[in-house]
Amino acid sequence: MSLPIKIRICNVDESANPRFIQKTFTFENHDGTHVLMVSVPEVVKILGLQYGMYVWPCAVVLAQYVWTTREKIQRKTVLELGAGVSLPGIVAAKCGAHVILSDSAEIPLCLENSRRCCELNDLPGVPVVGLTWGEISPELRSLPPVDIILGSDVFYEPEAKSFWSVLDYISGKKLRLDYRNFAE
Ligand SMILES: C[S@@+](CC[C@H](N)C(=O)[O-])C[C@H]1O[C@@H](n2cnc3c(N)ncnc32)[C@H](O)[C@@H]1O
Repeated sequence: MSLPIKIRICNVDESANPRFIQKTFTFENHDGTHVLMVSVPEVVKILGLQYGMYVWPCAVVLAQYVWTTREKIQRKTVLELGAGVSLPGIVAAKCGAHVILSDSAEIPLCLENSRRCCELNDLPGVPVVGLTWGEISPELRSLPPVDIILGSDVFYEPEAKSFWSVLDYISGKKLRLDYRNFAE
């Protein structure tokens, strides 16, 4: 049985670097046990700001889900697609999963921010790869077998249909996944 948890943003530090806001999320059980703190850098005040550079509300919900199911994801290989700031994937990695973070290969600043997030959370071994949906790239081909795929707010764009092509590729080659009920 999973216990209820609380999440709060307990720190917004704009002093270190005015281009970033650092938000710290606290995941904990209501009885105060098993506390996990994850800090993420949100990029602000740059030209050409991309929407993957700040945490979307669904990422918080998905991170909460990952936290509540953390015993099941331990030692699993987890791929986050369209990770942006990568809050769910970072929580999964902190909870013992082998995580691969990914976002569009065409948005290097977003990938850079995802790597920054790994550094901030002392996760130097987490790979961040450029995976553009719809492209069967060398990076996609060289993924290890994946147990769990995470994605939050990835249907923001109408052309997000290409997202399914990644799932098709991975499920066809690496795992079996029934996502039909989510397609419409
Ligand atoms: C609305 S943001 C959500 C970011 C993050 N998952 C969150 O919930 O905070 C959508 C994310 O999908 C990524 N994305 C959009 N189109 C993509 C594509 N064709 N290939 C890979 N990533 C893409 C964006 O770069 C962005 O990080």
